[in-house]
Amino acid sequence: MSTFNKIQLNKIGDLRGNLVAIESKNSIPFEFKRAYYIYSLDEKTPRGFHAHRELKQFAVCVSGQCKIKMDNGKVKETVLLDNPAEGLVIGPFEWHEMFDFSHDCVLLVLASEHYDEKDYIRSYDEFLELIK
Ligand code: TYD
Repeated sequence: MSTFNKIQLNKIGDLRGNLVAIESKNSIPFEFKRAYYIYSLDEKTPRGFHAHRELKQFAVCVSGQCKIKMDNGKVKETVLLDNPAEGLVIGPFEWHEMFDFSHDCVLLVLASEHYDEKDYIRSYDEFLELIK
């Protein structure tokens, strides 16, 4: 049992292929206002290295695979995302680092708020202070 919240999405498959829908507040436990995706990633260049104060996010590898190192200050866990029908909730005060991107990795992220740099905690020391 993981500390972090992986969610299985409903995959609708038929002879033509597969379809996955993600509905705000139905498929994932929050409303989303923003979607972004990262791609053309370098296998050896990790990203992330931050936490958020309020933002909730849901990350799904719609192509390829990557790993996300999750850290809530007490538990550290590496989550593999390698299934377009499965994603990970990244909640507030969860430090995360994405790494080991496959060449075909496209990581889609749905976020509860518009982009706001003030919501970022980019220093790990500050993160540890804030969660005390
Ligand atoms: P950043 O959050 O640092 O990326 P990662 O977590 O993958 O390492 O964002 C990289 C750049 O993109 C930074 O300049 C902020 C900008 N950005 C936006 O303009 N809008 C967005 O929705 C996001 C997520 C980032």
